[in-house]
Amino acid sequence: MFNFDELHNRKNTNSLKWDLFKERYKAQYKVENVEEILPMWVADMDFAIPQIITDAIKERLDHPIFGYSYVSDACKESIVGWFERRHNWTIDPKSILFHQGVVPALATIIETFTEPGDKVAVSTPIYPPFFSIPKAQNREVVECKLDTSNNDYNYDFDALEEQFKTGVKVYILCSPHNPGGKVWLREDLEQLVQLCIKYDVLLISDEIHADIVFDGAKHIPTLTVKDADKAKIITCIAPTKTFNIAGIHAAMMVVPNVELRNKLNFNKAAHGRDDLNILAAAAVKAAYDEGDEWVDAMIQYVSNNMDYVVEHLNKIEGIKVTKPQSTYLIWIDYRETGLDEKEMMLRLLEKGKLALEPGTKYTEAGRGFLRMNVACPLDTVKEGVEGFKKALL
Ligand SMILES: Cc1ncc(COP(=O)(O)O)c(C=O)c1O
Repeated sequence: MFNFDELHNRKNTNSLKWDLFKERYKAQYKVENVEEILPMWVADMDFAIPQIITDAIKERLDHPIFGYSYVSDACKESIVGWFERRHNWTIDPKSILFHQGVVPALATIIETFTEPGDKVAVSTPIYPPFFSIPKAQNREVVECKLDTSNNDYNYDFDALEEQFKTGVKVYILCSPHNPGGKVWLREDLEQLVQLCIKYDVLLISDEIHADIVFDGAKHIPTLTVKDADKAKIITCIAPTKTFNIAGIHAAMMVVPNVELRNKLNFNKAAHGRDDLNILAAAAVKAAYDEGDEWVDAMIQYVSNNMDYVVEHLNKIEGIKVTKPQSTYLIWIDYRETGLDEKEMMLRLLEKGKLALEPGTKYTEAGRGFLRMNVACPLDTVKEGVEGFKKALL
């Protein structure tokens, strides 16, 4: 019914993944022949988006006027319906604020609730804007490494508490976790919420990857755990990863706490910021109303891609890969190859003709790892795996 095998040529479409990467990798690694390199890095998919979204945008295009608009109650109900249906989470439509993306939302939240010099804590390795944004706003980033024993990522809550004791104002949670693909347990989230209550830390829960989970893993929205109503929590959600519409620019902040919401609205007014544009609103509504079947099929397809990569890369000496519980990103451990990051990246780019993300992009805690995006047709995944093998010959 949905053809995820179809290869779409994304070259020359102003794609970050397929076009802009060439300049970046050329500048950083001085590699030639970038045209031949297969990009499996930044987190968007090489699948066509669900037709229902394209149709909704086209329908809106049929009206010849694109004047000022607002996000309809019906669109908010669609968002509420999705999270109710898929995550057992009842969102009060009044608590939804819109933004152009989760990353800009993080920036706005940090700007609103902290001052320069304040401490913002993150658990590493982690998605780069979690530390680059607070740093750019002159906040002090406090890093607490996740416990990586047992080939898994886990919280060391004692270590995190020690950090909180030093006067942390904000903690940014990635749930599920990028790059590790970990789906946090309810117990993890409850412990985190208790710590945030105890030390009066604002908890930002970035749940952009919530919809894509495998093999029975269950995402737990942070706002649904015990005592969440007693904590200061802002959850960021978006349809952009789930439906491959990052270029549409749309995200939501769920802010049940009225005081926090008022402050965010005040900041919005201070910056003259609007909600979603007309086409984004049409896309969001269609995705959340009618996207279930596509998402279920996409998850199955990506899960099979994951299985393929795990099986084949694990046969390579020095490489260890575990199937993630979430995201379409595989976190590859190459520490036992003995190669350093530059050597590994150069081998991949020059011999393997493959562009992956180097682990230190996710802080020093990511050293010895690579991130591979497998949200693409199986033929592309196979090409990537072959390139990986060649790189290590
Ligand atoms: C954890 C996380 N948050 C946010 C984003 C990007 O969000 P947006 O495109 O809405 O700014 C990504 C993209 O990879 C991500 O992995």
